[in-house]
Amino acid sequence: TFVVTEDCIKCKYTDCVDVCPVECFHEGPEMLVIDPEECIDCALCVPECPIDAIFDEVDLPDDQLKFIKINADLSAEWPVIEGMIPAPEDAEEWEGVPDKIQYLAE
Ligand code: SF4
Ligand code: F3S
Repeated sequence: TFVVTEDCIKCKYTDCVDVCPVECFHEGPEMLVIDPEECIDCALCVPECPIDAIFDEVDLPDDQLKFIKINADLSAEWPVIEGMIPAPEDAEEWEGVPDKIQYLAE
């Protein structure tokens, strides 16, 4: 299963959405998450993300392991996103900012 990590928060570029063959991206207010029950491990989304926010769960950095559960839990609550949408206007300013998890609105 592939996992969207903290870097996506407040960047939310959504380039990842259009390449997914099984529509497993779900949209929340500040980030997208992947439904682990739908993801077929194709890895197509990984190079699409301009800030490399998507990882195979086996390659997750230790400080991002919590996002396995976050993706699983929030994909059950948030709606499927059907296609790419414009990024937030200030997305670039949030690239690489640490501790963005505090802004993860559930
Ligand atoms: Fe979709 Fe493939 Fe990415 Fe899984 S790995 S979220 S199936 S594009
Ligand atoms: Fe997030 Fe990257 Fe997709 S910033 S919305 S994982 S393209």
